[in-house]
Amino acid sequence: MSPERVSGRNTRAKITAPAIVEMKRRGERITVVTAYDFPTARLADQAGVEVLLVGDSVGTVLLGYDSTLPVTMDDMLHHTKAVSRAKPSALVVGDMPFMSYQVSEEQAVANAGRLVQEAGANAIKLEGGERVAGAVRHIVRAGIPVMGHLGLTPQSVLAFGGYKVQARSEADQERLLREAQALEAAGCFAIVLEGIPAALGARVTRELQIPTIGIGAGVGCDGQVLVSHDMLGLYQGRTARFVRRYAELGDAMRDAYARYVADVKAKRFPGDEESY
Ligand code: KIV
Repeated sequence: MSPERVSGRNTRAKITAPAIVEMKRRGERITVVTAYDFPTARLADQAGVEVLLVGDSVGTVLLGYDSTLPVTMDDMLHHTKAVSRAKPSALVVGDMPFMSYQVSEEQAVANAGRLVQEAGANAIKLEGGERVAGAVRHIVRAGIPVMGHLGLTPQSVLAFGGYKVQARSEADQERLLREAQALEAAGCFAIVLEGIPAALGARVTRELQIPTIGIGAGVGCDGQVLVSHDMLGLYQGRTARFVRRYAELGDAMRDAYARYVADVKAKRFPGDEESY
């Protein structure tokens, strides 16, 4: 890690959607993590992450919902604003919540516009393939870069009957490839591939000019995304097999709170040096 990163100063130029596409052309791997607040956005940016995704996973890992379905535009605007205030060099992608783009293409453009205009997002993400290609086209035409999302798309959990690996059969794999091509043709600058066989992730990556960002889609994708709360050990629910834990911040936090409780009870806090 460079000294600039360690000291917290970030000397990178702002990363744009075209720059992310260019990374694929150069064969450079793309790193994406979720961020929902100002401090996390700053820390991930200082560490050199290229894309901060304000995911609707905020609903499950931060707001305590059982799925992403209850997340609203107001939730996404609130959290995207917090991330944008960190002024990261990383590209800020605001996630379109359930029912913010399915009703009509007009509504999709208007809501995408709010994430950019009111909350400072540099791009938006939405879930689905051919069925959202029209909305993607309209949003791109408005000048807003769009990231697609295929495979185990959490907003379709009711239709899938649970969080299950998708596209296991040959027919489903062909369909997913066609959906990815439809998103590319509609103007997406990148596509998240979630919960699909690794061989399919690699195949879609080979077939597309735009980058694929995998989450449970194998090492053959152009980049990877992880939910910050999962990788940092902050989320206590069940995590998927594709999650690698890079820290145990949940344990560290519980321990810190417990030591504080013990100090207050024993009158060890505050000490003279913490008093006026
Ligand atoms: O909401 C989210 O965090 C996501 C990622 C899992 C890709 O969509």
